[in-house]
Amino acid sequence: MNKPVDLNVDQYNTDALLYITNRPPLVFTEGHGMWLTDHHGKRYLDWLQGWAVNCLGHSPQCIQDALVVQAKKVINPSPAFYNEPSIHLATLLTQHSCFDKVFFANSGAEANEGAIKLARKWGKLNKNATGDNRYEIITFNHSFHGRTLATMSASGKAGWDTMFAPQVPGFPKAELNDLASVEALITDKTVAVMLEPVQGEGIHPFCAIQWHFA
Ligand SMILES: Cc1ncc(COP(=O)(O)O)c(C=O)c1O
Repeated sequence: MNKPVDLNVDQYNTDALLYITNRPPLVFTEGHGMWLTDHHGKRYLDWLQGWAVNCLGHSPQCIQDALVVQAKKVINPSPAFYNEPSIHLATLLTQHSCFDKVFFANSGAEANEGAIKLARKWGKLNKNATGDNRYEIITFNHSFHGRTLATMSASGKAGWDTMFAPQVPGFPKAELNDLASVEALITDKTVAVMLEPVQGEGIHPFCAIQWHFA
């Protein structure tokens, strides 16, 4: 991969970090609410925070407090055991949503991997008329579902089909705003359709033009 432009930032030697993207030559040392502070003490109004995720503001007091309280009790018993906070949160989520069950994951990509596995499991338990597993999940050109191999394969971003080829098979791509293109991809192996209810990273050009002129 190309040498990064931000190899060293003042007193910081960034050699040990794997290059994943070009970064500006500054190091953030603090964040409060919507403000970030760099290693020179300069403040920045942060319009972004996570890449489309983690939108709670920087270091909110309620998260600090909850982390301290829980860290003093127990941090991570094995997932082979129940723990109190996960039961409490899962119950709250099911009480206040249309969902019956909760699976906790560490990232959006992992959550989507879980959803893909769940759909494939259903397709294995409910085989098609010829006795084969159903595993194909119809996704969309320009979509974004994460950076693991399966979620990259599900994504329809330009160039992602060859970047870490071969892809995980079973993700035929339809066109957004074109129901016929979805119907055309349905086979006896189809088990699900996957799309972002709200598009953020996977911006569809037609929507972008609409926003521009709105
Ligand atoms: C629509 C969508 N799906 C999946 C992901 C992946 O989430 P994560 O970066 O937490 O793995 C993102 C993250 O930006 C996203 O916007």
